[in-house]
Amino acid sequence: MNVSDTASIQDSLAASAVRLSSIHSRDLLRDTVRNGALKHTLVGCHFDFSRQRVDLQALAELIKFAKCIDLPAKRDAMLAGARINRSENREVLHTALRQGAAGASASIKIEVAQIKRRLYECVKAIRSCSWRGYTGKAIRDVIHIGIGGSHLGPELLVNALAHLPSSKKAPKIHFVANVDAQDINSALRGLSPETTLFIVVSKSFSTLETQVNANTARSWFLERTGNLNALGQHFLGVTNNLAAASEFGFRKENLFPIQDWVGGRFSLWSAVGLPIMLKIGCQAFEQLLAGARAADEHFAQSKIDRNIPVLAALLAIWNTSHLGCDSLAVLPYDKRLALLPDYLQQLEMESNGKSFDINGDPIDYRTMQVLWGGCGTNGQHAYHQLLHQGTSKFAADFILVGKGDTKNNEHHRWLLANGIAQGQAMTLGYIPINQAEQFKRVRGNHPSTTIVLNSLRAEQIGCLLAIYEHKVFCQGVLWNINSFDQWGVELGKQMALPIFAQLSGEDASTQDPATRHLVDHCLGLNRTE
Ligand code: F6P
Repeated sequence: MNVSDTASIQDSLAASAVRLSSIHSRDLLRDTVRNGALKHTLVGCHFDFSRQRVDLQALAELIKFAKCIDLPAKRDAMLAGARINRSENREVLHTALRQGAAGASASIKIEVAQIKRRLYECVKAIRSCSWRGYTGKAIRDVIHIGIGGSHLGPELLVNALAHLPSSKKAPKIHFVANVDAQDINSALRGLSPETTLFIVVSKSFSTLETQVNANTARSWFLERTGNLNALGQHFLGVTNNLAAASEFGFRKENLFPIQDWVGGRFSLWSAVGLPIMLKIGCQAFEQLLAGARAADEHFAQSKIDRNIPVLAALLAIWNTSHLGCDSLAVLPYDKRLALLPDYLQQLEMESNGKSFDINGDPIDYRTMQVLWGGCGTNGQHAYHQLLHQGTSKFAADFILVGKGDTKNNEHHRWLLANGIAQGQAMTLGYIPINQAEQFKRVRGNHPSTTIVLNSLRAEQIGCLLAIYEHKVFCQGVLWNINSFDQWGVELGKQMALPIFAQLSGEDASTQDPATRHLVDHCLGLNRTE
């Protein structure tokens, strides 16, 4: 990378931002060549960036920026298994789980195939009811215990793909993530240990929430069965820390590894995806992988100016750094994708919420903005008022499913009409003709991307999620940060330890006055009960 070249591109981008500040999006849309350059389709996923606030000149400058900082070479290094996660000295090879474009070594490929074969055998046994509980009954309920990357992807996909015909054969899958006892208590309510299987998922096998919930599940099981030998038949483990997990009581054959080179938030394609496999079956899981593989191949091979994740990342950087957008609203117009904003919150914010560059030096530019969102059309009757007439600058991703799966076409047409119209209103805005009605003015000119999945199938959602993963990687490269560590979450975890001890009456060490006050206040409340 040539520093003076990047500085001059940044200057051109800043000049373009000034130039475009006086051109409304409704005028940008008049350029059909521009519009064509901003629309791309991949395995039934249509990405329409034409409502973004760029013209061809700004787009060319952004692409020049990507080339100037060697984005293609950095992409190739990631896919080839270079140790790009420097602060943890790890490769970033989640693409190897999709067995496509990744240049993973032969031994990694063999390992991936072997683990998958074991997982599929287990999945087939449970789904076909040949896996029996300790009293000989088939498994009816599965409780997945895990948090963050060991939870969000599986729950998103189990919900999103519940309508597939192959999902009908699955046991009922419950998710327990929060350390709040209400989570596990409500999952366990009414279940029988004879027909319940637990999957404990934790890459580190040291995450507090998962440890506490797994211990509660273990006690629940043992209290009701009094049978320690039966435990192994009812608990599966998924982890990178096999030593710690084996102390818990899993049978060796019921422990599935997460490879060291899979980051938690990129792990749904690994053994972490076991509940997805259980829900949709092995064949549909293969389609999920195939969709992601198509995205990997597109990312690896397409020219930069036609490369969907590269374009998505460049536009995201443009929105944040040059247009000053403070947040990204993710607005799925399909209830089955209701958990997509939660999933993307971890993927994007844990990856790119950073203020140090890859060398550990502080940076003075903005990185990942706040990502939030929720399902349309409900949001239209809640926070869309702020989006249309508030003062915040934001960008939005609309996710629509073109072909409805419900028999009721009218509902689906209304859903699509609203999703398309909201993006239209955010782009075009509205200028009242009547001077007395200026309160009706809608500024518009907010950048948005509309993604239309042909239908909600495993392949399409696999492609969509892999495109987001690659977008996150590209943003990290463009911001010169490490997208694959998350040191910021450690401080709070450490601080909770002495506070827990104090709340348990076991520690009286000094705290800052605000913390001491809150601990004492809560201790007082618990004493008076
Ligand atoms: O606290 C953040 C985090 O480390 C995430 O990155 C990770 O996905 C989650 O916790 C769960 O970690 P584990 O799988 O090790 O339990």
